Amino acid sequence: MTNLSEKFKKIHIKKIALIGHMGSGKSSVGRKLAKKINWDFYDTDAEIERECKISIKEIFEKYDEKYFRKIEEKVISKLFLKDKSVFSLGGGSILSHNTRKIMKKNCISIFLKVDIDTLIKRLTRNKNRPLLINTNIKKKLKSLNAQRLPIYESADVIITNSKNINNTLEMIIDKILKSYNLNKNVKKN
Ligand code: S3P
Repeated sequence: MTNLSEKFKKIHIKKIALIGHMGSGKSSVGRKLAKKINWDFYDTDAEIERECKISIKEIFEKYDEKYFRKIEEKVISKLFLKDKSVFSLGGGSILSHNTRKIMKKNCISIFLKVDIDTLIKRLTRNKNRPLLINTNIKKKLKSLNAQRLPIYESADVIITNSKNINNTLEMIIDKILKSYNLNKNVKKN
């Protein structure tokens, strides 16, 4: 994990990227975080679907994973031009060297770490993740984890997405707000 204060000092970051496995809560956490600091929120899967005008599932069915990854990389590199934005990145997007490079340089990256058993429970009935259809979910998640965990763990911040996530998230938000002097932007409910 990076020393966040050091990173804030080095670059004036106005982008936050949430990374982690499918089902780790990137979109709900990202939406909440963006709302709190009054930044924009982008879910890369939703942006891909908007651009291609078909669902992620259909992209995998009609083409293949390789094709999906190409579009994913293109969409993310465009999204990363936006400032004051929180991004929820598709679980496999960090496999792209290019995406990792831009993310490292320009974003505070946050890994939402969730144990495999919890992910299995969350994803068992899910029909929208092509990589998990007609397969042994436990086996698949374990192999994805073996490949991706070292990349996820190189994030600037690691949050264990547990029952206490709201507390941890508040701490991270607080740090971000202080660093950017953004407290004035926080909406009072
Ligand atoms: C994928 C994760 C999905 C989506 C696609 C592939 C992956 O996004 O991009 O189904 O390779 O882990 P979420 O992580 O938002 O579910």
